[in-house]
Amino acid sequence: LAQVLATVTFGATASLAAANCDPGETVVKLSHVTGGTTHPKVVASNNFAERVNKELNGKMCVEVYPSSTLFGDSKELEALLLGDVQLLAPSLSKFGSYTEKFGVFDLPFIFKDIDAAIRFTQSKEGMGLLNEMEDVGFVGLGYWMSGMKYFSANKPLIEPTDAKGLKFRVQTSDVAKAMIKAMGASPQPMAFSEVYGALQTGVVDGQENTWSNIYTKKFFEVQDSVTETNHQLLAYLFMTSREFLDSLDDDVREQFIAIANDVTLQANLEVKEKEANNRQNILNGGGVINVLNAAQREKWVNAMKPVWKQFEKAIGKDLINAAAGS
Ligand code: LMR
Repeated sequence: LAQVLATVTFGATASLAAANCDPGETVVKLSHVTGGTTHPKVVASNNFAERVNKELNGKMCVEVYPSSTLFGDSKELEALLLGDVQLLAPSLSKFGSYTEKFGVFDLPFIFKDIDAAIRFTQSKEGMGLLNEMEDVGFVGLGYWMSGMKYFSANKPLIEPTDAKGLKFRVQTSDVAKAMIKAMGASPQPMAFSEVYGALQTGVVDGQENTWSNIYTKKFFEVQDSVTETNHQLLAYLFMTSREFLDSLDDDVREQFIAIANDVTLQANLEVKEKEANNRQNILNGGGVINVLNAAQREKWVNAMKPVWKQFEKAIGKDLINAAAGS
């Protein structure tokens, strides 16, 4: 029976994790890139491991590898197809080399809030996207919301023109790159594990992320301030591979999927509270948050508006309309 691994260092992780599974149990590695204890993905991953390790004790054993300790952004999807890891929860913004359709989740200001995003994922169109990459061998088990995103930089960003000429780290998403360019700034795609160092050394001037990532990875400590732009969604695809799922006995597979559904539901119910807590944690830690008034917010919306048109063909108008109307 595996214990959930929350804060172990690399090196110790592999041996400790392996040591906790009983002989005969199918070992399932869940790798992700986030850290800390208060992050929604950390909590959901650990909940999933705990549930499986209790309810499928003797049959299956989940080991959680947080903070890119097993695989980081660049390798994890290939590793899943190779069978080196069985579960991932990457951001929907990291699937550009497999599908353009996920760009819908990245369109700036398409979701008013997390509830609108959840409604979209539960719609016919959203559910359809869950297994958009079936041909590749990926199976979507559920969408885990992370939060809305906020810009931070080494200077206050009150209006989009304040970002002119700055370099922003982005995930590997064409939509995100276009959005940064629309602000007159320059996008620098980079793995999540490298962001703190890049901000600290000035390789980039800013980044965009959720309260939970900005707090748990301490980005606020190496930035002037964070602006409450709410400009984009961050959500994850909790996923496995077809090959792994097919390798399970029917009863185990059924229970595994049922637990995934439960944990997904629970994670999405709790996500807003977790984000609010991490926003407060940033303030308690001395971080500065710039709150926008309606006129300022409108300027951000207008600056990013042209991005939708650029991706209309690649994503599909129907999908965009469904998401925007959620
Ligand atoms: C990022 O790369 O900024 C995020 O996708 C990290 C994460 O998984 O929350």
